[in-house]
Amino acid sequence: MTKTLIIGGTGTVGGLVLAEAVRRGVDVRALVRDEKKASTLPGTVELVQGDLADRDAVRAALQGVEAAFYVSPHEENEVEIARIFGEEAQRAGVRLVFGGFHVEDQEQRAAMEEALPAYTSKLRLAAFLASTDTRPVMISITNFDQNDEVFREDVLAGRFPTPMHRDGVNRIDLRDVAVVVVNALTDPGFAAGSYQLVGPESLSGEDSARIWSEALGRPVRYTGDDPEWRRTFALRLPGRKLQDWISSFELLGSTPIPTDPADVENTARLLGRAPRSLRDYARDTAAAWR
Ligand SMILES: NC(=O)c1ccc[n+]([C@@H]2O[C@H](COP(=O)([O-])OP(=O)(O)OC[C@H]3O[C@@H](n4cnc5c(N)ncnc54)[C@H](OP(=O)(O)O)[C@@H]3O)[C@@H](O)[C@H]2O)c1
Repeated sequence: MTKTLIIGGTGTVGGLVLAEAVRRGVDVRALVRDEKKASTLPGTVELVQGDLADRDAVRAALQGVEAAFYVSPHEENEVEIARIFGEEAQRAGVRLVFGGFHVEDQEQRAAMEEALPAYTSKLRLAAFLASTDTRPVMISITNFDQNDEVFREDVLAGRFPTPMHRDGVNRIDLRDVAVVVVNALTDPGFAAGSYQLVGPESLSGEDSARIWSEALGRPVRYTGDDPEWRRTFALRLPGRKLQDWISSFELLGSTPIPTDPADVENTARLLGRAPRSLRDYARDTAAAWR
C-alpha cells in the first residue's frame, strides 16, 4: 500500500485528516515534533519525530511517500517551513495536498495583501506551494465549526465569545474537509488545482449562539460584540496562534462572508452529499461533552 504523510496530526485540521485516513485504512505516517503529544494517535500510524524547520527531518519524513497533506502551523517561520516542505516534496516527487487559505488569482491576491496585511505571509506561502511541481491540490476552507471547542468552558457557561458579522460568515465542519482531503490524498487521478470548500450557510454570532443553545438545552448568548472578547481569546490560545486568531476574528466581526451557492454545490459534489451544518456539529459535540 502507498504511504501518505500527514503534517499537523496533533492539531485540529491535521488531526481530523489523520483520523479520517486511518478510518479508511490508509497507510499513514505523521511528522510530529512532540512524540509525547503524539502518543494518543492511533497505533497504526507511523510516527516520525522532527520539526518542519529541519530540512533533513522533512526529507526523511517524505521518503517513500506518494502523497502528503500540509497545513501551515501558526508559527513565526510559517513561510520558511512551507518553503522547505514544498521544495522537499517536489524533490521527492510527492503529490501535495494543502488545506488552508489560498487565492489563486495574482491580482486578487495582491489586493488582499494590501487590504489585509496580517494575511500576507499566509497568502504567500500558499502561492509558493501552488507553484511547486507537486501536482498540488490547494483546498481553501472557511471558518471552522471546530473553533468553538476552544471556547468550550465559555459556551458551557452560556457565552459564545467569537465575533461574527451580523450578516453571517460561512462556517465549515472540518470532518467534511477531512473527507475531501483524504480523497485527494488517495486518488492519484484527483485533479490538481484550487478548491473552495464551504459549509451550507453563513451564520452570525447570534445564529451560532442560538444553535449551541439548542444543542445544549440551555441559554447561550452572543458576547462577541463585547470588546472584552480579545481577553477571552488570550485565556484560551497561546502565542502566535492568539495573534492570528485575533486578526481573523477582527475581520470576521467586521466583514460578512456570504455563502456562494456554487461553492456549496461544488462541496456537495466533492463529498457526494450535502455538507454538514453547524447544527449537526453542535449536536455531535454537545453529546460528546456530556
Ligand atoms: N481556524 C480557522 O477557522 C481557519 C480557517 C481557515 C484556515 N485556517 C488555517 O488553518 C491553519 C491552522 O490549522 P490548525 O487549526 O489545525 O492548527 P493547530 O491546531 O495549531 O495545529 C498545528 C499543528 O502543526 C504542528 N506544528 C506546529 N509547528 C510545527 C513545526 N515547526 N514542526 C512540525 N509540526 C509543527 C503542531 O504540532 P504540536 O501539536 O506539537 O503543536 C500541530 O500538530 C492556519 O494556517 C490557519 O490560517 C484556519
